[in-house]
Amino acid sequence: MKHLLSISDLGADGIEEVMRVTDSFVEVSERAIPRVPALRGKTVVSLFYEESTRTRLSFEMAAKRLSADTMNFALSSSSVKKGESLRDTCQTIEAMGVDALVVRHSSAGVPWQVASWVDCSVVNAGDGWHEHPTQALLDCYTIRAQRGSLEGLRIAVVGDVKHSRVARSGVLAFTLLGAEVTIVAPPTLLPPSLVGWPVEVTSDLDGVLTKVDVVYVLRMQAERQTEALLPSLREYTARYGLTRDRVALLPDDAMVMHPGPINRGVEIASDVADIPRSAITRQVANGVAVRMAVLFLLLGQGPSGPLSGMQGPSGPLSGMQGPSGPLSGMQGPSGPSSGARG
Ligand code: NCD
Repeated sequence: MKHLLSISDLGADGIEEVMRVTDSFVEVSERAIPRVPALRGKTVVSLFYEESTRTRLSFEMAAKRLSADTMNFALSSSSVKKGESLRDTCQTIEAMGVDALVVRHSSAGVPWQVASWVDCSVVNAGDGWHEHPTQALLDCYTIRAQRGSLEGLRIAVVGDVKHSRVARSGVLAFTLLGAEVTIVAPPTLLPPSLVGWPVEVTSDLDGVLTKVDVVYVLRMQAERQTEALLPSLREYTARYGLTRDRVALLPDDAMVMHPGPINRGVEIASDVADIPRSAITRQVANGVAVRMAVLFLLLGQGPSGPLSGMQGPSGPLSGMQGPSGPLSGMQGPSGPSSGARG
């Protein structure tokens, strides 16, 4: 696989593969020096045309932990401000010798467009209301880490589904892995059509909460709402906010999830965000290892398939174990330290 644009690029087998590779990188992340040489010599560029805290930093940290070089494109100080087109910007960056572009844009479809213009790998880090595949992968990983598998789990996705790329990728991924998904939203925050969505739909949150394994709360996407879709935020919170009282309806082992950033007191009560069954910080932590897995599978693969390099002693992950110090990757015949090693 060259690009990760949509969860449907992966299918169930591809998601499982990412999960398995993520297990290795979680182990790496727990080390005193959480870094492996798997992508040494590769360059990963973040091309974010939209705000982000966790996704941008998470990709950057993932690339650094794989020893890739990273570059960060800052929209506000770029030539985009002089009118440079998206295509020219991408091709300019690629001309510097880039292996992956991690793209976020407010318009749906931009990562596909970018992938058609460049030769390097493209990762979709969120395109408009459309998809956010690495968020769905880290969510699947977080659920799997706690429950073993998603097969047969009941997941309620609650809130502003209409504007949510997280919901689109999440529903695809959760159902591919065998979960049953119920969307809970006021009718005005549902997509115009749910044809083809393998989900149940309801506006009765309290009725759903008593029988779910995961309640996945979405952020109210106020910045994407161009019309009044709700009587008031206060009313939304009263009917759809995850309050302490509603958490009390959940089965004992049910997880609370949210992709962040949280609007405390709107879609989730402030104290609920921090209760032990809230997986929100675990989602962020797992995000780094999941993105390491994605970058590794796209850029670090051997000649015969994405995982081939992970097995043999000379594969890209071979440096993950043993005494591979900071200079271990410099030992090639033409490397700067070859003379020093004698
Ligand atoms: C989400 C996004 O930007 O799509 N955040 C994230 O990446 N974790 C969700 C959101 O903004 O609501």
